[in-house]
Amino acid sequence: MDLKKLGLHGKSILKLLDLTDEQVQGMIELAEELKARKKSGANLKDALLYRKNIALIFQKSSTRTHCATVCGVHDEGGYTEYLNAHDLHFGKKESVKDSARVLGRMFDGIMFRGYSQRTVEDLAKYSGIPVWNGLTDEWHPSQVFADFLTIKEHFGTLKGLKMAFIGDGRNNVASSLMIGCSKVGMDFVDVCPQELSPSQELLDMANEGAKRNGCKIEVSHDPIKGVEGANILYTDVWVSMGEEALFNERLALLKPFQVNMDMVKNTGLLEQNKVIFLHCLPAFHDNNTEVSKETGAMEVSDDVFEAPFSKVFDEAENRLHTIKAMIVASLA
Ligand code: CP
Ligand code: NVA
Repeated sequence: MDLKKLGLHGKSILKLLDLTDEQVQGMIELAEELKARKKSGANLKDALLYRKNIALIFQKSSTRTHCATVCGVHDEGGYTEYLNAHDLHFGKKESVKDSARVLGRMFDGIMFRGYSQRTVEDLAKYSGIPVWNGLTDEWHPSQVFADFLTIKEHFGTLKGLKMAFIGDGRNNVASSLMIGCSKVGMDFVDVCPQELSPSQELLDMANEGAKRNGCKIEVSHDPIKGVEGANILYTDVWVSMGEEALFNERLALLKPFQVNMDMVKNTGLLEQNKVIFLHCLPAFHDNNTEVSKETGAMEVSDDVFEAPFSKVFDEAENRLHTIKAMIVASLA
């Protein structure tokens, strides 16, 4: 991968809308190369992030994004410092703008996870160093790179496939996937209750990309017809971080949208082995977690989650290779 041609050196990655179609494709290719490089052990000899100092500012919990950043940077010879909401004055005793200017004098880059998109945009603006969005209330761009890498590994292509996102159709993951699909030429249908529909503004932005790349962006409120012909069934939790007060309301709305074997059969592609299941994780798929026991939330049935066509752990591993690609694209 020609990193100069990719054109992300010194830049932040805050949402997919800021990237060209070619840059989104290029990120997947870079991640493929870095994955092969790690498997061959080559990164130890020729580290791409040697002595780079990366701060992780996490205002919300994380397993994958946190660990992928730490392991990805360490694989390439860099150093990470994890800072949670209690460790920093950030946004409390000190403005985001001032903290950003301080961190920008010390670190080479920042992985941020938090609430408002405005915060990550300000962090990038005032720190003067690359900032990567590791999830905000509005967007989760780093997740989409891992999803696309997993799809490409399975189907050998992205263009011409169809993804159905089923669930909270206006959350950070759904919105990011919609924009991502529009940029790589993948049909996308947002299968959700009317009350959780994506905004017209988002649909307009996705449709612009879809026109360029010859794919379709749709919304369906029918959990049966909506998934017909979908190669990728994708779901996420019904209640995102920060919305915990909404559990009862969401359960009532989203129970008919659970991904289960009936839904997988309704794609019409199961017998031909042309459908996979993806989930960004963490997932409620049985009654094994405290929250699913307490609330009864289960966006995917256990038989789908554990099925051979479920690629969720390949997808989770690919968070490592794609987050590493984001950091390498900006810093190497
Ligand atoms: N998918 C994802 O972002 O996982 P974490 O919340 O564990 O980082
Ligand atoms: N929509 C979920 C994604 C978690 C990775 C959330 O924001 O909690």
